[in-house]
Amino acid sequence: NEKVRAKVGELAGQVDVVLGNLEDAIPIESKEAAREGFIAMAKATDFGATGLWVRVNALNSPWLLDDLTRIVGEIGDKLDVVMVPKVEGPWDIHFVDQYLALLEARHGVKKPILVHAILETAQGVNNVAAIAAASPRMQGMSLGPADLAASRGMKTTRVGGGHPDYRTLGDVIEGGRTSAQQDPWHYTIARMVDACMAHGLKAFYGPFGDFSDAEACEAQFRNAFLLGCAGAWTLHPSQIAIAKRVFSPDAGEVAFAKKILAAMPDGSGAVMIDGKMQDDATWKQAKVIVDLARQVAAKDRDYADIYGF
Ligand code: GLV
Ligand code: MG
Repeated sequence: NEKVRAKVGELAGQVDVVLGNLEDAIPIESKEAAREGFIAMAKATDFGATGLWVRVNALNSPWLLDDLTRIVGEIGDKLDVVMVPKVEGPWDIHFVDQYLALLEARHGVKKPILVHAILETAQGVNNVAAIAAASPRMQGMSLGPADLAASRGMKTTRVGGGHPDYRTLGDVIEGGRTSAQQDPWHYTIARMVDACMAHGLKAFYGPFGDFSDAEACEAQFRNAFLLGCAGAWTLHPSQIAIAKRVFSPDAGEVAFAKKILAAMPDGSGAVMIDGKMQDDATWKQAKVIVDLARQVAAKDRDYADIYGF
């Protein structure tokens, strides 16, 4: 897509990762053109500190072998991560790991290309811990709610987010009752985060397809952020600001977390701050928030000011 490619240089300055998608959403007759377009774009763009990833086609597709062979051969030294869709179990990761090793050796690629799995089949969710442990190349995982919904037989046509029919009901009070949507992805996100964090990987929420509902996108991203995800995909430029806002910790939380760290310099014992008990565990919670704030601040002067670094 020439129009999108022309914007990549500008886009790269606003995001942590630029991902070239070769899989779903690319018409079958355009698979080769998309691959070659990605290679040309990667060669022509200076990504600076921004990561360059590619979502290749699935292992059972006729395109995967040429995707990996061409891309590693042409831009192996520029590519950070291969995102593998529809991963079913550790055997899929083993294959990609070994094939990448062959290609890296053949082309003299200097640093190992990492692997990111999309968690988007019922079997993949069943095997999530083994997938996380499958290779030292594993960088992380993303939840793929669209394929996963289909694989599980969930009754939805939406790409991620809540569903108007999946709700809780409040008690009947004075003849009325409140009701609210639940997050149908709660269970999967929690399993994915546990599997990832147990192996030092990053968990991501995947796509949110309704570009017209920024509020619902923000709510879904925020649930993922609070449960431990490191980020989310942005399919549309309008979602970049939402993701930045959500995945940068709240200034009030950062200020409180800094207070905890300052009050317990060696991280032990117990203190009271603003009526709340703090101990070793809350010190660790505070460190998660402050470390993340530092990471965000290192890339963004505005946030550095907001957080007071
Ligand atoms: C992403 O690939 C999804 O299926 O949601
Ligand atoms: Mg998918």
